[in-house]
Order: sequence, then C-alpha cells, then structure tokens
Amino acid sequence: MSPIKQHDRDFVVVASRLPVDRVEGTDGGQEWRPSPGGLVTALEPVMRAAGGAWIGWSGDAGPAPGPFDADGLHLVGLGLSETEVKRFYEGFCNATLWPLYHDVIAVPQFHRSWWDAYVAVNRRFAEAAAEQAAPGATVWVHDYQLQLVPKMLREQRGDVRIGFFNHIPFPGYEIFAQLPWRRQVVEGLLGADLLGFQRRADATNFLRACRRAVGLTTRGSTVRVSEPGGSREIHAAAFPISIDVKGLAGIARRDDVRKRSREVCDALGEPGLVLLGVDRLDYTKGILHRLRAYGELVASGRLGPRPVLIQVASPSRERVEAYRTLRDEVEVMVGRINGEHGEVGYAPVHYLHQSYPREEMAALYLAAEVMLVTPLRDGMNLVAKEYVACRNDENGTLVLSEFTGAADELAGAFLVNPHDIDGLKDTIVRAAQTSPAEARRRMRAMRKRLFEYDVARWAASFLETLEGGISAAQPAAAEPEAS
Ligand code: G6P
Repeated sequence: MSPIKQHDRDFVVVASRLPVDRVEGTDGGQEWRPSPGGLVTALEPVMRAAGGAWIGWSGDAGPAPGPFDADGLHLVGLGLSETEVKRFYEGFCNATLWPLYHDVIAVPQFHRSWWDAYVAVNRRFAEAAAEQAAPGATVWVHDYQLQLVPKMLREQRGDVRIGFFNHIPFPGYEIFAQLPWRRQVVEGLLGADLLGFQRRADATNFLRACRRAVGLTTRGSTVRVSEPGGSREIHAAAFPISIDVKGLAGIARRDDVRKRSREVCDALGEPGLVLLGVDRLDYTKGILHRLRAYGELVASGRLGPRPVLIQVASPSRERVEAYRTLRDEVEVMVGRINGEHGEVGYAPVHYLHQSYPREEMAALYLAAEVMLVTPLRDGMNLVAKEYVACRNDENGTLVLSEFTGAADELAGAFLVNPHDIDGLKDTIVRAAQTSPAEARRRMRAMRKRLFEYDVARWAASFLETLEGGISAAQPAAAEPEAS
C-alpha cells in the first residue's frame, strides 16, 4: 500500500466499481487483476497524465481495501458491509433504479431501508472524493449507483469541478415520478456542473424531471439553481459512449484470433448460418424475445438448413431475484429449442453462461454472419459497437434494437422492435439474406462513424466541455420550458 496522501489529485474518477478484480494469487494471497472495461481504457491516459485517483468498490462484501497502486494507477477501494451489498447494491441499485430506469421491464421495488443505505454509501464515496481531490480538481462521477455524490461532494468541496455521466437511460418523467425519492435524486445530480447522458432523449427526460420534480426553470440544455452564494448553471447534454475501436480492431486482425475464429466454425460442424448474441444475463437485453423468434425461424426452416445461434450470456447480479428467474427461463427455452429441433451432432443454440477474454470474443464476432443485439431497453450497448469494430473484412450484418442508444449512431444496422416477434423474425431473415455488396455498404457506414468517435474522443469531449464551459456541449433537444 502507498502512504495516504490527501487533497493532492487533480483528476478523480468516482465509479461504483474499481477497474481491477480481486483474484487469488499464486502464493494463496490476494492480487488485483485489471478488468479491461471501456471506461478504464478511456480514462487511463487522462489518469496517468494527471496522476489521478480512481475511487470504487471491489465487488465483495468486507472491509475497505483502502488506497493502493495497481498497474500504475492510484486506486482507492471502498468497502461495503454484507447488509450494504444487500440494500445498496442488490437492492436500491439493481432492484429499484435499474428496472425503473429501464422502463419498468421488471417491477421496481421501493424500500425505505434500501434508500437509507443508498444515501449512506453515496456519502462514503463523496467523502473519499473530497479527501483525494486537490484544490480546483476535476472530479468525474459515474452512473446510477452514485447520483447523490455530486451534491454531497459540492457541499464539502465548493472548489472542485464536478462532472457526472449516466451510463444507462434516464426514463421519461411518468416513470421516474414513481420514485419516492425523485426530488432528492434530481437535486443530488444537480450538484454537478455538467451532466452527460447517452442520448439526447435521456438529457431531455432529465431536464423535464428538473422542472416537474423540483420546479426549476430550464433553458435549452441549461438549468439554473439558486444557492446561498448566488445562482449556478448546470448543463445536461448527450455524450454517447464508445469503445477502444482501434484496440479491438487490432485484436481481431491478429493471426491467432482469426485462427481461433475458424476453429469455432469447425467445431460447429457445417453450420448453414452462424448467428451470435452476446449479453450480460439481464432482463433488459431481450434474450427471451430473441430466442422465441429464433426458435420459430428454426422450426419453419426460413434460415435454411442447420443454422446455429451462439448465445453468450455472462453471469450477472445472481443474487437478485429477477436475474435468477430470468436464468431459469432462458435455460428452459434453450433446452426446448435444442430438444425439439436438434439432432445428434447438431444443436441449434449453443448457450454459454460464461465470461470470456477479449480475444475469444473477437473470434466469436468474426465467426458470426448475423449479430443479434435486441435489448428491450439499453443506454448504449457496446456489444453492437464491438461487433462492428472487429469486422475489418467489412462482412457481417447487425440486427439492432431501436431501443438502444447505439441505434442513434449505427445507421447501417437492421433496426428492429424486439417486442414484435414477427417483425424480429422478418428482420433476421432479411439480414441473413442481404447481398454481400449491400452488407458491405452498411458495415462500411457503421465503421466510418465508429472510427471517428471512439472512447478516447468521448472522454475528451466530456472533459473539455466540463473544463472549458458549455460552448462545446451538444444541446439536448429543445422542449417547451414549462409543462
Ligand atoms: C452496466 C452499468 C454499470 C455496471 C455494469 C455491470 O453496464 O451501467 O454501471 O457496472 O452494468 O453491472 P454490475 O452490477 O456487475 O456492476
């Protein structure tokens, strides 16, 4: 552990997760292994240049790991007790806010003890940020788990610049209004100077919540709040997140990865068509709708002989009831499709309830002729972008839900309403039967957009806007002020 030096970090990231996982070391002790998320890839250069700190939770119940350096980054690990894991993480974050913000696909639960835990844990994060930040530092807070941090931090440290980015959708007011603590959440967020959302529609929804839940006046993308020392302007705008496009395209170009991709195809026997789904096992991802459509297509023979769907469903939030139920339902449906339409040596669905390294994912993306990204609601969906980044050969087609942030950007995808099973079936068939020239035209258009705006551009444009004022902000769609 490094000695604790306080108030000396010019750049502080506050996110619910640390960018490392705790693993068992070779000597039986514990070690930290980098978890290669998009966020850390984007922020690492900024962190290094500014000698920044990253505050987050390790993912286990227990005491705080405290400050330490890993892989050249300064990390501050906070702890959650077993009760806080239940009430804050599994409860308020993932059984209240997550379903509420994803258009109540599952029923959100409202419990006052969960809210109390949310307030207490947000306070812990805010205090840690206040301790780390140098005078005048920039602090970037991330996602729905930490919406109260901006206000709590501002109360302690009026000198720092605070940005907040919401990685998931911000719901329409009629849905958000169900939250018994809607006013506190909006006020918590308004502690920031700049609020970033995935889509304009999310920023617009937030501005509406400012008017309706708190009675504030908004003008374009700006909200003005009165505070004891005078009034302050906050900006809410869209900054669609991206991925490390060049890094992933480079992995997909490697000989070993391409060889692995051929091995995958060989292992499938002689499939007629390879389709792929890659998701966290989450009810927002529309896996059941996708399986229903695919099962009917297999039964009708519309995809030709022996199609194969590889469905990677990585384990997620397994102690939350809605996730356990979903797993059972998915596994029943996979079993039914394979039982009814498989034969010895052929299974229509290859279901993988596992997580894989980036190389293996790139090999799967290269093997897939049709990529199915069909969430019922998704803030962005980076899997769609990963598929496009990997297709250096400009082959392959993407079926993409209208209800993802990515649909605003990836114009070459086959857009679909995942609730419309017949429409989903027709779109999958259309994507599978596209001529190679048309598939290439579409893929090229998507790759152009993706290579222009990668995750480094995303981080830079957010931070430049935060540090340089509002001029660079894309205003959220204008809406009438009072409603
Ligand atoms: C989404 C959220 C992230 C979250 C991730 C994994 O992408 O936007 O904030 O970290 O899911 O979920 P988990 O509950 O494992 O942190």
